[in-house]
Amino acid sequence: MDTGYILKGHVLAFTTSPFTEERPEDAARLRGAVAVRDGRIAGTGTFADMRALLPEAETVDHSGKLIMAGFVDAHVHYPQTAVIASWGKRLIDWLNSYSFPEEMRFADRAYADEIAARYLDLTTAHGTTTVCSFCTIHPESVDALFAAAQARGQRVAGGKTCMDRNAPDGLRDTAQSAYDDSEALIARWHGTDRLEYAISPRFSPTSTPEQLEAMGALWAKHPECLMQTHLSEQTDEIAWVKSLFPQARDYLDTYEEFGLLGAKGLYGHAIHLEDRERHRLRDYGAALIHCPTSNTFIGSGLFDMAGLMAEGQRIGLATDTGGGSSFSMLRTLAAAYEIGQLRGTPLHAAQLLWLATQGSATALRMEDKIGNAAAGMEADLVVLDLASTPAIAQRAARAEDIWEAVFPTIMMGDDRAIAEVWIGGRRV
Ligand code: GUN
Ligand code: ZN
Repeated sequence: MDTGYILKGHVLAFTTSPFTEERPEDAARLRGAVAVRDGRIAGTGTFADMRALLPEAETVDHSGKLIMAGFVDAHVHYPQTAVIASWGKRLIDWLNSYSFPEEMRFADRAYADEIAARYLDLTTAHGTTTVCSFCTIHPESVDALFAAAQARGQRVAGGKTCMDRNAPDGLRDTAQSAYDDSEALIARWHGTDRLEYAISPRFSPTSTPEQLEAMGALWAKHPECLMQTHLSEQTDEIAWVKSLFPQARDYLDTYEEFGLLGAKGLYGHAIHLEDRERHRLRDYGAALIHCPTSNTFIGSGLFDMAGLMAEGQRIGLATDTGGGSSFSMLRTLAAAYEIGQLRGTPLHAAQLLWLATQGSATALRMEDKIGNAAAGMEADLVVLDLASTPAIAQRAARAEDIWEAVFPTIMMGDDRAIAEVWIGGRRV
């Protein structure tokens, strides 16, 4: 019988969004312990209260450390793991030079299995417990990711990347095969254990109108699925979309016209948006996924977090591995902070930590299951050592409250700051 665990430390939970509070820190509560049993969070409170709740539970002492929901990375390309941090190209050159040749290799199931395992090992070591990933055009690449996630008991979303033009030989499907293969994968994986399917047309430059229409029809038939794509990442990409879809009102319209705008839609990057696009995204409750290390690394631009939050957009946060330059959501928070600074709107530590957990979980429509250290939620937790290096420790030692204590870890922390990770109530 599972008698459970009580983790002792600074347990951080959110009661609301720190973007809607006058003082962002008022959105958070700190408690002394969290109780875990049968894969779920049984409660949070004082250690004595948790002991009363689970009298037989094993105590895990993390005094002085910060215990919070595991990080949720809402937009990644796991097949780009081995080409992360490739030097010096703009988006389209980067795709052609590094990403597409690497993605070609995923026709080989054994290679896909190797990279899926490597990717989940790396992200777990960085405190990430859920990801939403593009795979490659090969259905085997989806099987590899989901099988690896299933074996680890992880909540993971993903889907077969669909492309039927402007991609090399061997990396194109068709409108029909993309529909059929995606539908077979939905039947095989969606809702199995903790896995969710995301219909994944890569972006409008690599799909014909026929393929976008087929993806829209598939989503209409399977509204239980997420749909993920890319939107307005770089200005030359936007100009290319205009030339490929001369009748479209804007980039978003190339999706909207084919039924690919919806509440379970995830739009990666969303930097250079026009007013009409912002209105439509908000009206639908669609999710924008901010990928700050990618945006600086590929030179895409500065996401308008403050403006988009103020108008009520749903926003998640992501590494965009491997266009992003890190597997770490801590590093991603640092980049989000820096982009906020460059726009004159710095983010509070509470806002940053919320984005990496509840924000992304809300974007993925999983906020009732993951993304917060609260009773009833699935027990995906990360324990942060707030003094993981001498440089961080000496700054944290001066801190007057938890936000000041965690901020050096946000700005300078990496996998050394990850003291422990729990997935589905199991220590990993
Ligand atoms: N746009 C279309 N595909 C990609 C990709 O793989 N990475 C990034 N950063 N942008 C994209
Ligand atoms: Zn991407």
